[in-house]
Amino acid sequence: MKRELDPMRIAAFELLKKHLGDRKKKTPHEILEIGIGDGANLQYYPENSSLTALDMNASFETYLKDNLKKHPQVQYKRKVIAMAENMVGVEDSSLDVVVCTYVLCSANYVPSVLKEVKRVLKPGGKFLFVEHVAYPTSDWNYLIQCLTAPLWRTYFCGCNLNRKNGEEIKRTGFSNVEYETKYNKKVWVYIRPQIVGIATK
Ligand SMILES: C[S@@+](CC[C@H](N)C(=O)[O-])C[C@H]1O[C@@H](n2cnc3c(N)ncnc32)[C@H](O)[C@@H]1O
Repeated sequence: MKRELDPMRIAAFELLKKHLGDRKKKTPHEILEIGIGDGANLQYYPENSSLTALDMNASFETYLKDNLKKHPQVQYKRKVIAMAENMVGVEDSSLDVVVCTYVLCSANYVPSVLKEVKRVLKPGGKFLFVEHVAYPTSDWNYLIQCLTAPLWRTYFCGCNLNRKNGEEIKRTGFSNVEYETKYNKKVWVYIRPQIVGIATK
């Protein structure tokens, strides 16, 4: 499904570019990506990125390192093996950008992840996110998502179909949150509504 998700990733990083503007041309952008997996977003990172990669799954680094070779604009600073709910070892107010794509659906407790994201961002730092979310409750597809959710969670490693993560992000206390819900027709109907957005600490 990777290629089908590319338009969402592209839209998110366009948004980031707009927000970063001309800032920090000389000093690197300190970026933390949570739940980075094999690094599907690396190709869209801005020039002069310094990456801290976090994932709960220690085996991610083998694939990530391979992928990093293709993207010299990204300097690999360090890895953190941790749950995003408790980012031990990531300092307060130390990052310009936190990237999170297709992770909140399977997090154990989303409010804790978002609280941690806010903690580690510098004032004015950006939280860039792409997530599949619940349909509006008035849509029949929401019922389908709710009925399918238990089985889906079992087969897809704890992935939850019907989370309202956009609303959760708004509740976190960022100074600004903007996102758009896009209906990605290239993917299964269950994960079609996807939010693409950016929040500012
Ligand atoms: C569906 S994959 C998405 C990978 C990548 N972000 C992408 O967009 O292709 C979810 C990734 O998040 C990681 N993950 C899920 N829940 C996590 C958590 N609570 N803390 C840290 N990593 C988590 C998984 O190990 C996996 O690498």
